[in-house]
Amino acid sequence: MPVEAARDLASLRARVAGWRRAGLRIGLVPTMGALHEGHLALVRRALDLADRCVVSIFVNPTQFAPTEDLDRYPRDESGDLALLERAGAQLAWIPATEVMYPPGGSTWVTVEGVAEGLEAETRPHFFRGVATVCAKLFGQVGADLAVFGEKDYQQLLVVRRLVLDLAIPTEIVAYPTVREPDGLAMSSRNRYLDPAERQTAASLYGVLRATASELADGCPAEPPLAAARQRLLAAGFDDVDYVALRDAHDLRPLEHANGRPARLLAAARLGATRLIDNVAVGAA
Ligand code: PAF
Repeated sequence: MPVEAARDLASLRARVAGWRRAGLRIGLVPTMGALHEGHLALVRRALDLADRCVVSIFVNPTQFAPTEDLDRYPRDESGDLALLERAGAQLAWIPATEVMYPPGGSTWVTVEGVAEGLEAETRPHFFRGVATVCAKLFGQVGADLAVFGEKDYQQLLVVRRLVLDLAIPTEIVAYPTVREPDGLAMSSRNRYLDPAERQTAASLYGVLRATASELADGCPAEPPLAAARQRLLAAGFDDVDYVALRDAHDLRPLEHANGRPARLLAAARLGATRLIDNVAVGAA
């Protein structure tokens, strides 16, 4: 079946209301387009858990700082629709910026706690933009569940906090990071990498895995974390924003993995591209 595209709220709501009347469960996969196998895995997961899948495609301007890549962020609507059709999604929600942010809009969603530190250190604007657009998407679609990838682990926890605090009746489902054969986490931004950078990029996952297994025995975290930074720089990364051991549920900094579920998270730069990734430590 061809995937249908809705571009205004009336069409989106009419389609969703019809499904509701038929007693169908609805899943949502929020994306910024430039879809890849990682997104399609989220769609398939949504379709395992629901009868219909809505995929939003919206490059959200409010989560980009003026210095970031909003203008050059990859856009390929027809390619995205072809992929969604193959994955079996029923509806692409593709609002214009004025639909998502009506003129005169002055409502923002700010999450504290899990939205502080890590990504927010280098991208202080980011989670306000993500939380605001996700709150809008949840209100617009009214899905029973929404699937988010674990690659953006802090984002996943921010969205979980958001739906809990605002009593949004959309269940947040996490999906494990989908990786290339050499371990690189799939990301729309990987297409910025030149061949040499692409080769270096794969070492991020290797370093995280090696460091996570060192940390799993509960040793003090600081020496392995410092060594991981050095390994990333030696592998060819230009800069390392963070390599951090955090509580897997609330992202509290941990001095060692002490039996509680823990997560090792990193962000590093290769030329103009910033990559993030994370892995569980021990049996998280
Ligand atoms: O992860 C993303 O692609 C975006 O941050 C999201 C969740 C679609 C919000 O714009």
